[in-house]
Amino acid sequence: MRSYSLIAPAKINLYLEILGSRSDGYHELAMILQTIDLADQIDLRSISKDEIQLHCTHPEVPLDKSNLAYRAAELMMKEFPQAFAHQYGGVEITIHKQIPVAAGLAGGSTDAAAVLVGIDLLWKLGLTQSELQELAAKLGSDVPFCISGGTAIATGRGENLSPLPDLDHLYVVLAKHRKLAVSTAWAYQNYRQQFSSSYISDTESLESRASRVHSGQLVNAIFHKDSVKISSLLHNDLERVVLPAYPQILQLREALQNAGALGSMMSGSGSTVFALAESNAHAQEILEKVKLRVLNPEIDFWIARFCNTGIRFLHTIY
Ligand code: C5P
Repeated sequence: MRSYSLIAPAKINLYLEILGSRSDGYHELAMILQTIDLADQIDLRSISKDEIQLHCTHPEVPLDKSNLAYRAAELMMKEFPQAFAHQYGGVEITIHKQIPVAAGLAGGSTDAAAVLVGIDLLWKLGLTQSELQELAAKLGSDVPFCISGGTAIATGRGENLSPLPDLDHLYVVLAKHRKLAVSTAWAYQNYRQQFSSSYISDTESLESRASRVHSGQLVNAIFHKDSVKISSLLHNDLERVVLPAYPQILQLREALQNAGALGSMMSGSGSTVFALAESNAHAQEILEKVKLRVLNPEIDFWIARFCNTGIRFLHTIY
C-alpha cells in the first residue's frame, strides 16, 4: 500500500490582538502568524480496514477522537465517503512528535493540517489549497494557517489569511516549562471575564480595526525585513491573563530578553515563550546565557528558524 510522509511545522504568534466577541462564541482576532522549522513528521498509509488507526511517538498524545489529527481523518471520511469506503479503505496515521504538546505552538493543529493534506494525496482527491483550508477551518482556528504557513495576517477566528513577505532570515529560541500546559479555552474565557467591557461590538468598527493591522507598523517592519523593529512590536493580548496566573512564564520570558534577545513574547496561549535572534549564532548565544542563568532541568529549550512553508511533502513509500 502507498504511504506518504509529510512535514508539519509549528507556528508562533508575532502579534495577537483580541478585538471582540463573535456570535459563535469565539473571539474576533487580528494576528500575525509565523511558521518555524521545529516540526512533526506525519506518515499516512491506506489500510484495507475501514477505520482510523492513530499512533504517536509521544506518550501523552491521545490516540482517539480527542486528537485533532484523528478528527481530521474523520472529517475527510465524512466529506468523501466514496473514496473512504469503496476505493481506498481506512487510514493509518503515525505522528513523530517533535513539537511540544499544549504549548501555544499549534502542534495539534499542524498535525491535523498534515492529515488533511496527506489524505488528499492518498485518495487522489486533487483538492486546492483553499478547499483544504475550508475543511481545516471546521477543525480549529489555527488549522487553515498551518496548511499554507509562512508569514501571514490572520483575522476573523484566525481563518482569514493574507500572506506577508518571507522572514526566513530570523531565528527563534523557544523555552517551555516541561510540565506547564495552559488551556487555550481557559485563557480566552479568562480574557473575556476581565476585559470584555473593552471589546468592540459593532461590525463596522470590528472590520476597520481588523483591517488596521494590514497597514500597521509591524506589517511595515516585516515588508522592510527590519528585525529590530519587528522585535519591538511583538504583542500578545493573552499575556494579560496568562502571565499573572503563571509568573514562571513571565520569568522565563524576561530571562530570554536579558540574555540578549532582539525581543521576546509568549506564543499563543502559552506556555512556550520565544526570543527572536538575527542569526543561528545569536540564537546559540542567547540559549547558552539563559541556560546558565535559569539552571532549571524542568525547562526545555529549542532553536528554530523561521520558515516560509506550511505542510510539506517529504516522501512517498510504495
Ligand atoms: O479553534 P480552537 O479549537 O483552536 O480554539 C481553542 C479555544 O480557544 C476555543 O475553544 C475558544 O475558547 C478559544 N478561541 C477563541 N477565539 C478564537 C480562537 C480560539 O475564543 N478566535
